[in-house]
Amino acid sequence: MEDRLVTVMGPTGKTGGHVARQAAERGWTVRAAGRRPAAHGQWTPFEWDDPATWEPAFAGSDAAYILIPFNHPGAPERAPEVIEAAVRAGVPQLALLSTIDVDHATDDDPTKVAERTLAALPVRSAMVRPTWFLDNFTVGSFQGMLEVGELRLPAGDGLIPFVDTRDVAAVAVAAMAPGGPEGVLPVTGPAAVDHHVVAAALADALGVPMRYVPVSGEEFVDLLCGRGFSTGYGEFLAEALIKVADGRLDLPVSDTVPRVVGRPAYSVSDFARDYAANRRP
Ligand SMILES: NC(=O)c1ccc[n+]([C@@H]2O[C@H](COP(=O)([O-])OP(=O)(O)OC[C@H]3O[C@@H](n4cnc5c(N)ncnc54)[C@H](OP(=O)(O)O)[C@@H]3O)[C@@H](O)[C@H]2O)c1
Repeated sequence: MEDRLVTVMGPTGKTGGHVARQAAERGWTVRAAGRRPAAHGQWTPFEWDDPATWEPAFAGSDAAYILIPFNHPGAPERAPEVIEAAVRAGVPQLALLSTIDVDHATDDDPTKVAERTLAALPVRSAMVRPTWFLDNFTVGSFQGMLEVGELRLPAGDGLIPFVDTRDVAAVAVAAMAPGGPEGVLPVTGPAAVDHHVVAAALADALGVPMRYVPVSGEEFVDLLCGRGFSTGYGEFLAEALIKVADGRLDLPVSDTVPRVVGRPAYSVSDFARDYAANRRP
């Protein structure tokens, strides 16, 4: 067991929950930095809208997991300030949750700006760049589609090397360990698959009918709006999925998980079986 104190942002969310759990399993002391207590770690108040909470959440930590909640207004723009607060508080090692296609983004894209800010600071840093999360279908934006048994997305037959957030967390935790990997870390599943494969794996594991129906971008945006998401968010997702459908966005499989974590990345079937075994009724 290593004697280590780490700050984990977003500990009640998809990746942060696994980061906090996996860090605690290593015997590290985890500060779960968020608006409310999380399942793992000691609750440390952190509010993106209240800068007074930032430095205290980081002070004295050996490493930190930085997560930008894109659905909280203003957070993306303030990410550089939060990263600087962590460094000012003395954290020597930071793992930033980024995204696999950040290189294709414009220079003023908030994730790109956050990466640039971190890279320029005098700390050990890792840019954890995952592809699309499988968890989007179970606890994320597409959960409603799972409930009705139809994944309706404008992705055509495009391929995505979907990732399980347990793997995203495993790479982030490795990057927070003493001597952990630095720099750019693309994180994907073991193979690129289309949405028919995702639907079949979920149907098989859950024992329910499930199919993928390719739809237009307009229908997808209407669907998401009907489920309470903003038009802007729907259009952002539609644009990315349409690029996957027509081959403009090609996401290669990366070897980061086996290389850094020391085991194969979880497949779509692994993910679906784990979800089926652990879901709440
Ligand atoms: N989904 C994908 O396929 C995908 C792919 C690549 C990269 N990403 C990146 O993943 C990130 C999202 O990660 P995630 O899915 O793990 O997050 P998530 O499940 O959406 O959870 C967001 C976390 O941020 C916390 N939070 C929200 N607003 C806050 C505030 N005002 N103050 C303090 N904490 C706040 C939430 O806490 P509460 O419980 O209090 O709300 C929660 O713990 C984004 O940066 C996105 O770009 C996503």
